[in-house]
Amino acid sequence: NNLIKFIAALPKAELHLHIEGSLEPELMFELAKRNKVTLPFPDVESVKAAYNFNNLQEFLDIYYQGTNVLKTEEDFCDLAMAYFYRAHRDNVLHSEIFFDPQSHTERGIPFNVVMNGLLAAVTKAEAELGMSVQLIMCFLRHLDEESAFATLRMAEPFLDKITGVGLDSSEVGNPPSKFRHVFAEARQKGLKLVAHAGEEGDASYIKEALDILNIDRIDHGNRITEDRLLMTRAARSAIALTICPLSNQKLQVVPDLRNHPLPYLLRQGLRVTINSDDPAYFGGYVNDNYKALAEYCGLKAADFVEIARNSFLGSFLPDQTVAAYL
Ligand code: ADE
Ligand code: ZN
Repeated sequence: NNLIKFIAALPKAELHLHIEGSLEPELMFELAKRNKVTLPFPDVESVKAAYNFNNLQEFLDIYYQGTNVLKTEEDFCDLAMAYFYRAHRDNVLHSEIFFDPQSHTERGIPFNVVMNGLLAAVTKAEAELGMSVQLIMCFLRHLDEESAFATLRMAEPFLDKITGVGLDSSEVGNPPSKFRHVFAEARQKGLKLVAHAGEEGDASYIKEALDILNIDRIDHGNRITEDRLLMTRAARSAIALTICPLSNQKLQVVPDLRNHPLPYLLRQGLRVTINSDDPAYFGGYVNDNYKALAEYCGLKAADFVEIARNSFLGSFLPDQTVAAYL
């Protein structure tokens, strides 16, 4: 219908996308074959059937297992190109993608292999598709801060090609404060800062990420609704929230999308955006996430215009470039 077409045609930016989470089962099998890796599944259908998650951890266990097929620069390039082509079809003009170097270096893949593969894809997407792309390097919060520091040191030769650092993986029990020193150092190096906060963790995780890590953008942030003062502060400071509706549903963060907090946060004046998180695992790319809010929460064309504007306003593009998109 008309709203679906309107959503499809809206120019948008995607600000919350884990490149490893865009690994479709078909490509997973292709790379497994290419690299002679044995998968614990006989075929694509049984992989898809295993994508039923009761919480974040159940997803993460299967997500890290999926990364085992990624070995060479070519693999990382193919992975990222598949996402760029797909996002381009959804009229994504700008994308800020997360990558998890520790999930690769921990299994013996050199940091440079990951970077060179991703950078080759970024160059290709910019040239072939006219997209702009920025890279955000995430630290795995279930690992210690020393491992994050080691990762930041490995990134040193590439810092001019990395826009920012983020914080992802198992939230509860791994508060932002655990990473205060490494985030301070990343800031000193001129990097932007983001963190997953308030996805499964309560609002105190968001408050810590703002107060202790000094983040520039909140990933997820759903549970900010639990702290009215924090909500007012987020609205006043126009800090962006990168919300991922289908992810929230699949990870039982918001089991029924009719109860999703996004419409409420939008009405409260927060700079909310819609993103796909790990589209290969959660059953939809960015437009599917917009559509879910239309279908289950009754959002209208004007709401999506505002949300798409927010995606550029909340991006790390230079102000002049943002202005050109609005
Ligand atoms: N890694 C990939 N997707 C994630 C999510 N939604 N939350 C935390 N860590 C992640
Ligand atoms: Zn995420």
